[in-house]
Amino acid sequence: MENTQEKKQRVLSLIQPTSIPTLGNYLGALKNWKTMSRDYDCIFGVADLHALTVRIEPSLLRSQTRQMLAMLLALDLDPMNNIVFVQSHAHTHAELSWLLNCYTQFGEASRMTQFKDKSRKHADNVNVGLFDYPVLMAADILIYQSDFVPVGADQKQHLELARNIAERFNGIYGDTFTIPEPFIGTKGAKIMSLQDPTAKMSKSDTNPKASVSVLDTPDVIVKKFKSAVTDSEASVRYAEGKDGINNLMTIYSCCTGLSYEQIESDFAGKGYGDFKAAVAEAVVEELRPLQAEYNRIISDKAYIGECAKQGAEKALYVSQKTLRKVQKKVGLWQV
Ligand code: TYM
Repeated sequence: MENTQEKKQRVLSLIQPTSIPTLGNYLGALKNWKTMSRDYDCIFGVADLHALTVRIEPSLLRSQTRQMLAMLLALDLDPMNNIVFVQSHAHTHAELSWLLNCYTQFGEASRMTQFKDKSRKHADNVNVGLFDYPVLMAADILIYQSDFVPVGADQKQHLELARNIAERFNGIYGDTFTIPEPFIGTKGAKIMSLQDPTAKMSKSDTNPKASVSVLDTPDVIVKKFKSAVTDSEASVRYAEGKDGINNLMTIYSCCTGLSYEQIESDFAGKGYGDFKAAVAEAVVEELRPLQAEYNRIISDKAYIGECAKQGAEKALYVSQKTLRKVQKKVGLWQV
């Protein structure tokens, strides 16, 4: 995707502050954010409103939101030229979300697979916010007239809903929203659990060995990869039915830039022990600069607070334009 236009195209993406990001979040989304922050007009944020759809201790939400913002700053997203902010600091998102609710069909929202999964997981708290989650996400995207949305494969259906809502609204009121394109990397879009390679690596997995946190120490990373589930064939090759090895090859490829063919030839005749050690080392090296920068930034509360304030101001300035336009189009009386 080459950006040759003079006016930079806009990229937007958010991440929930539900815990420290996993290697899945990093390879599926954050790493691409970092690359795109150089060439695009980027808006990256912490989706604290989305995190409320699952019960969370208030003090924990507050501290995790601050930590996630520090993580985004540690990624070096160039906050001077881009916008890095906390979702709830721009009230415009929730306001647009209400308006978009009225242009979203109950049936289409009911089809969201993540809603169905989360309803099963949190059967005691299937709240309306959980159902409405993708509409708030559509508001996040559409309010900035975003061209591209870098996400992992699990968010594709939500992106399609955002596009449908935008097209419907544009159809009724004339051109209002840019129709966003998902940007889903060819590799790393779905990093799988190290313990069950048929399930996505997730922050909420109760088995600590299943996921790698981007702040795990080198020792912990090595241990987790050592115990990763593979198969009994003992041959490093990318093939159907070899979910565990395929996942490790994907992780290794994302961290080293090597193709699957190169990896297969480098590890020909070698056992899984050697390969797992190499993958762990590549992950440790990939995360090293991020960890160092995060540890530096997290102790500087004043800096994080100042960045949050500046991010909020810039986010509000841009998002208010779209909100006003939409309010006017639907007939709200503006005085
Ligand atoms: P969240 O916080 O669940 O995940 C953040 C990003 O990480 C990606 N991801 C993965 N990628 C590859 N492999 C995995 N195992 C993996 N797990 C997670 C997700 O696809 C996501 O890109 N709803 C969003 C947050 C959001 C948002 C938005 C995103 C709110 N508003 C507007 C884009 C645009 C979410 O739950 O992210």
